[in-house]
Amino acid sequence: MTGVSAPPPIRVGVLFSDTGVTALVERTQRRAVELALEELNASGGVLGRPLEAVVYDPASEPRRYRQLTEQLFETDGIEVIFGCYMSSTRKAVLPIVERRGGLLFYPTLYEGFEFSPNCIYSGAAPNQNSVGLARYLMQRYGERFYLVGSNYVFPYESNRIIRDYISSHGGKVVEERYIPLTAKEEDIEQIIDDVRRCDPSVIISTVVGDSTVSLYRAYRKAGFDPGKMPIGSLTTTEPEVARMGSEAAEGHYTSTPYFQSIRSAENERFVKAYQESFGPDQPISSCTEAAYCQVHLFAKAVERAGSTAIAKIKQSLPGFEFPAPQGPVRVDQENNHTYLWPRIGRVGSDGQFTIEEESSVPVKPDPYLITPDDENWVSQSVGKDGARHVPLTGHVG
Ligand code: ACM
Repeated sequence: MTGVSAPPPIRVGVLFSDTGVTALVERTQRRAVELALEELNASGGVLGRPLEAVVYDPASEPRRYRQLTEQLFETDGIEVIFGCYMSSTRKAVLPIVERRGGLLFYPTLYEGFEFSPNCIYSGAAPNQNSVGLARYLMQRYGERFYLVGSNYVFPYESNRIIRDYISSHGGKVVEERYIPLTAKEEDIEQIIDDVRRCDPSVIISTVVGDSTVSLYRAYRKAGFDPGKMPIGSLTTTEPEVARMGSEAAEGHYTSTPYFQSIRSAENERFVKAYQESFGPDQPISSCTEAAYCQVHLFAKAVERAGSTAIAKIKQSLPGFEFPAPQGPVRVDQENNHTYLWPRIGRVGSDGQFTIEEESSVPVKPDPYLITPDDENWVSQSVGKDGARHVPLTGHVG
């Protein structure tokens, strides 16, 4: 008698940190991947096969990411990985994925100026967040910018882009400082003293992880006024706001394609499903949403390709849209990044972001900033007042 054997699972690797300096947000990315896999399995899997995750905790350490990536390929026989938050960890993982001919799905905003045929980037590229943030804050608060970041690759590179934008639009970077990833109280105090000395119009923070909480709390304790000198960030999202408390975060700005507060049927369904699985008060960030979308993009690409072969998945990925909570998204076949919906939000007293400006169309990713300024965003952006925004003019050398 021959039994009918169950179809073998499609196995994927999941590398997000449950411990270490960026666990706060990475944990939400891991959960989002689990939620998407659960949804797909509940509707019959992909190509009639269940999806199965091999999950490790790389502890926010690039070295650990590297070791676990080798392990996923070598021991677990995995070819597709969902993972990484900090750019230092993506840079640790990617050479291995390239050498092994695998595929990394990277769901985090980053500094751009990168392309790998073995990576799908679903977080924002600089033209989808940082350039618009600099424009928006310069127009409203003034031209003197203070840049503070964590001491690793993303903040340096992101600040280079912001600096270029500011200086080519008549603004000035009054200071640029970096603090350790696990900053101590005295590191933050030095920044606060320095801000007081420089008296900027705007602070741009590319601080990540737990130090974000200390920075915003110290700002508040110092008595600074977000109505006069706000912090603008790409990395201060709902999980960081929830941890620091809304009294520390209120009035500050973040630019990102997704906010938990977006009103749409897709987002209401997503927030409900996430919070039913992980807890009613669990905050959701743009990185959480990107991690969720990536799994659905992967699954649909496999389904359309009729195969789990990496070459076939890559070929199939740019050919369709996914109805994401932020609005429909799709992978750009020119650069493996994703069309996204840039937005600027301001933290309210409830800890949620009020959306101050948003693009009315998905914006093509431009990781090498080939299109000058943020013309492809600005010309399509609508403010809270319904007004269309115009690019800044009057360049000063
Ligand atoms: C980052 O390091 N890409 C946030």
